[in-house]
Amino acid sequence: MSSQRGKFITFEGLDGCGKSTQLELLADELRKQGHAVVVTREPGGTDTGEKIRRLLLDTRTSGLAPMAELGLMFASRAQHIHEVILPGLNAGRIVLCDRFTDSSEAYQGGGRKLGSKVVLELHRVLCGDMKPDLTILMDSDVAASVERARRRNRGRDSSENDEGRFEKENRAFFTRVRNTYLEIANREPERVMVVDARGTPAKTHAKILQVVSKKLTIETSSRKANNGR
Ligand SMILES: Nc1ncnc2c1ncn2[C@@H]1O[C@H](COP(=O)(O)OP(=O)(O)O)[C@@H](O)[C@H]1O
Ligand SMILES: [Mg+2]
Repeated sequence: MSSQRGKFITFEGLDGCGKSTQLELLADELRKQGHAVVVTREPGGTDTGEKIRRLLLDTRTSGLAPMAELGLMFASRAQHIHEVILPGLNAGRIVLCDRFTDSSEAYQGGGRKLGSKVVLELHRVLCGDMKPDLTILMDSDVAASVERARRRNRGRDSSENDEGRFEKENRAFFTRVRNTYLEIANREPERVMVVDARGTPAKTHAKILQVVSKKLTIETSSRKANNGR
């Protein structure tokens, strides 16, 4: 076990923008560099959370009130922080998480029009206001992302892997989601780095690696400087 706290890095962006693809590429690279890496996702990441995930993403879940949806997202998250994220960070690992509270602010706050305030308030109460060290916001065009997500979901066994409930939303919904994401990036420029996700996977990976390396290097060198005093 390491005495130093690890790093919490989250990936955000529209469905189909390439988060899961990039998270795996980054995890491989960081492991090659000798880092201990935990890869996880929301909603989900724990046994309880994965059950909540199935309920939330299942197209057969109908009539779920937006506040109920938000509550389930936070139930999954509170369990996830307790069971996976904090233990990983306390053991000195780099925790890479596919979606976190910014997704709730963008989808339930923006997309479902519940507003940011209630989301940030729940985050404060239920998640101790936990902030990622770095958030990669993968920005892409609404139409292109939705099309990619649809194609991906069509290729899956739908009874096993139904992630389609949000996919059924319309263009206006996803435009609100994207705009809310960009507002978060404007509000917290030190934490949230916007990466253009319109290029090839390799190109996007190179951009992400640059952002992450910079973050890790700064943290490592400032720690060395402090220890040297
Ligand atoms: N840069 C890219 N260009 C074209 N297709 C991509 C790119 N990145 C990922 N894909 C493909 O698009 C689909 C959605 O990618 P995925 O990583 O699952 O996105 P997300 O996790 O953000 O929903 C997958 O089929 C994936 O193989
Ligand atoms: Mg994904």
